[in-house]
Amino acid sequence: DWRFLGLVFGAYLIGAIPSGVLVSRLGGKSDPRLGGSGNIGATNVLRVSGRLAGALTLALDLAKGAGPTLAAALLLAPWQTALVGVAAFAGHIFPVYLHFRGGKGVATALGVWLIWSPASFLAVAAIIVFLAWRTGQMSVGSLAGCGSAPLWLLIDHCPAAMLWAAVVMSGLIVWRHKDNIVRLRSGMENKLK
Ligand code: G3P
Repeated sequence: DWRFLGLVFGAYLIGAIPSGVLVSRLGGKSDPRLGGSGNIGATNVLRVSGRLAGALTLALDLAKGAGPTLAAALLLAPWQTALVGVAAFAGHIFPVYLHFRGGKGVATALGVWLIWSPASFLAVAAIIVFLAWRTGQMSVGSLAGCGSAPLWLLIDHCPAAMLWAAVVMSGLIVWRHKDNIVRLRSGMENKLK
């Protein structure tokens, strides 16, 4: 099916767009890879380039996941919609434009999950916001929120393909936080601001 292959490929190329780097550079700020945690995600853009740049990066990274996944949900079968979401997410983590060195996938995964299961999106987002607020460390929220995502999709009776896709995404997100986990264990994790 050419629509399916086109959407998988397109989702990857859209997911790979490094919003954080572009927003920071266009705003005349320094590259997020050169400061803070060195990550290209909204958290580190907030740290390095300020609130507006951080909010814009969050919105764009969410849209990179939600846009292609919504198109797939409207046109294709659930298993195909699951793979298109994974493609957008994989684009953010392994972007062709940045020699495959991308981000941690939290915001892009949230955009994908918003389309698969709005209730799960709300649960994950609530956990992230609450824990980030209580601890001042985004990684704590990201790990608990994204780590529990498959559970929320299961409770919401999502199709099996999406459930398994979410298991893979959650695993990748936790793996991308390995340096954060080391810092959390030694009490050296970066604060949000
Ligand atoms: O989404 C990434 C976030 O969980 C942690 O970001 O920059 O603190 O490593 P950072």
